[in-house]
Amino acid sequence: MVARVIDGKVIAETVKNRVAAEAAEFQRVTGITATLAAVLIGDDPASQVYVRNKERACHKAGLRSVLHRLPADISRMELMDLIAKLNQDPSVHGILVQLPLPKHLDSAMVLDAVSPVKDVDGFHPQNVGLMLQGRPRFLPCTPHGVMEMLKYEQVATVGAHAVVIGRSDIVGKPMAALLMQKGADATVTVCHSRTRDIAAITRQADILIAAVGIPRFVTGDMIRPGAVVIDVGINRDGDTLVGDVDYESAFQTASAMTPVPGGVGPMTIAMLLQNTLLAAMQSVKA
Ligand code: GUN
Repeated sequence: MVARVIDGKVIAETVKNRVAAEAAEFQRVTGITATLAAVLIGDDPASQVYVRNKERACHKAGLRSVLHRLPADISRMELMDLIAKLNQDPSVHGILVQLPLPKHLDSAMVLDAVSPVKDVDGFHPQNVGLMLQGRPRFLPCTPHGVMEMLKYEQVATVGAHAVVIGRSDIVGKPMAALLMQKGADATVTVCHSRTRDIAAITRQADILIAAVGIPRFVTGDMIRPGAVVIDVGINRDGDTLVGDVDYESAFQTASAMTPVPGGVGPMTIAMLLQNTLLAAMQSVKA
């Protein structure tokens, strides 16, 4: 079998077009331009690229984006002051603090400080709780993007065995929660670095989601023939980006799979735009 390639750029484009149309209508009715404030601390090259892509996508969809660049040695107090200001600014609807943070800053403390009604990343504990209970305010962008892809590709999740590799707060944990949610109805197994005989488990997956952060971790022999493989990994191998899935071997075994780049990455940005518009709409209702 040779896999069908799931084109994240195409799917992200349809989401972004929908957001752009809704944002224009929202602006026409309310006079409000949905606005994202992005906070970028330090000069991590990957973070610079991500934030630039997010800003560009906002502008293209007719959303406003305001970038706050802070030096790597910013103090906790100064950062908290900025977040407090953004929380109170009625012209800002969504706030995104780009991760990872410099080591001297405690990311839990920083993310907790973002107002939960502006937390378009969906990282605030209140939003994590609401998501887990199946009454989400903002869904976290990457797992939400994966769910959108599965829907667009008409991958049946009901009753399917979904195996998630990785248990991060950003991807693995919320991914498992969304897949098991009523409506999605998958049976979910979460694997991680301490899982015994991981291949025996991944080979049972109808849907395999790799979010482990290790280049080419998932090889073809770990995949059940015909499985759908979603690669959330973005790893650097010299000058090239590679996923958590060994593309060449997986391609021979899976029925459908996402490429890196051009798979999950563009979906994350599309869902961020959707959350920013949602935040603006909720700010009017509140
Ligand atoms: N760093 C890696 N992924 C993300 C994300 O989804 N949001 C933020 N804020 N930072 C990230």
